[in-house]
Amino acid sequence: MRRLVVGISGATGIAYGIRVLELARKAGVETHLVVTPAGQQTRAYETDLGARDLAALADVVHRPADVGAAIASGSFRTDGMIVAPCSVRTLSAVAYSMNDNLLTRAADVTLKERRRLVLLVRETPLTLGHLRAMTAATESGAIVMPPVPAFYLRPGSVDDIVDHTAGRALDLLGIDVPDLPRWGG
Ligand SMILES: Cc1cc2nc3c(=O)[nH]c(=O)nc-3n(C[C@H](O)[C@H](O)[C@H](O)COP(=O)(O)O)c2cc1C
Repeated sequence: MRRLVVGISGATGIAYGIRVLELARKAGVETHLVVTPAGQQTRAYETDLGARDLAALADVVHRPADVGAAIASGSFRTDGMIVAPCSVRTLSAVAYSMNDNLLTRAADVTLKERRRLVLLVRETPLTLGHLRAMTAATESGAIVMPPVPAFYLRPGSVDDIVDHTAGRALDLLGIDVPDLPRWGG
């Protein structure tokens, strides 16, 4: 069975993380979820879901303080990790291997094991510091994928935009998302 680590940090756009979990479940992928305290704050601001509702979308949920969890070790095999959304704080920690919680530790493990790490970094406008952290993360092997909508597919709703971005993030891990709208020329 395929296994995906999903991190949700405290940038706006928790809908992306929720959709990644839903699509991964549909694709038969086992998910391991870690949500930072700021991620829980955005959940409360941006959705009607309680912490338990969010947890129910994943197969296994880890506490952000539990740096001894399975996903903190490279010997626990996974197919990679998606951080959606990824705050600048989490990006910076990942870029410089500051493994200060389970999310950033699991991301660093993903990089050191040369597995795919996709960061849906969300901030605007960007400072030079943000751009430098994106460069450092990319140099370490991460894929920085800001959740920027594509309008050529004529999205009719916010859900369409979220679906497309979450699907493209899963695409980067080779996880098949049926019915993902694609440009055919
Ligand atoms: C409603 C809300 C929206 C936020 N949006 C962003 C954002 O888009 N990008 C960002 O980098 N931080 C954003 N923040 C700030 C982060 O939550 C804050 O920097 C936090 O320390 C991130 O911690 P974490 O990376 O451990 O989740 C937001 C905070 C709140 C409460």
